[in-house]
Amino acid sequence: MTLTDAAPAPAPDAATMARIHAAAYRLDRPWTYAEFSALLTSPHVIALGDDRAFILARIIADEAEVLTIATHPDHRRTSLARALLDRFHTVVQAKGAVTAFLEVAADNTPAHRLYLSAGYAQVGLRRAYYDRSDGPAADALILRRDLT
Ligand SMILES: CC(C)(COP(=O)(O)OP(=O)(O)OC[C@H]1O[C@@H](n2cnc3c(N)ncnc32)[C@H](O)[C@@H]1OP(=O)(O)O)[C@@H](O)C(=O)NCCC(=O)NCCS
Repeated sequence: MTLTDAAPAPAPDAATMARIHAAAYRLDRPWTYAEFSALLTSPHVIALGDDRAFILARIIADEAEVLTIATHPDHRRTSLARALLDRFHTVVQAKGAVTAFLEVAADNTPAHRLYLSAGYAQVGLRRAYYDRSDGPAADALILRRDLT
């Protein structure tokens, strides 16, 4: 089954998400298995994807929020993230969400382009929000997409 199939796909587990997250973000401290496991216990949290890419999101009332999205470096630029975002929009719309929000670092060009191409627009800015070990802190852009 591919991420673009209409049928429901099995959700990725915490170990898979921790593995992809560590490879994709190359952070000093990637999110751990325990952190993903804890998030998955929440009835508000949705995980979609497979062993190549995933999206983790939260829906509360009529607002959905992308917590993180990542594609393993071996599978980049094959439209996996775009397909996951599309599926996320469909799933949360069906659950009653009318708006989706997310945050992206201003210097994260791949993610920013992905979101703009998926219909998101900037509605806010948090200055110097993301620490950078190799330079000045990066601003966070707050993006929003209408789901109605
Ligand atoms: C951002 C990320 C999730 C994109 O995943 P992906 O599966 O490679 O993306 P897709 O193949 O679905 O690309 C969809 C669109 O996003 C944009 N895009 C993706 N990667 C890009 C890159 N390296 N440079 C420029 N634009 C890019 C393009 O518009 C692309 O469409 P196109 O291929 O038709 O030009 C991936 O690069 C990643 O895991 N990055 C590290 C984690 C991260 O930054 N997550 C987002 C945090 S807010």
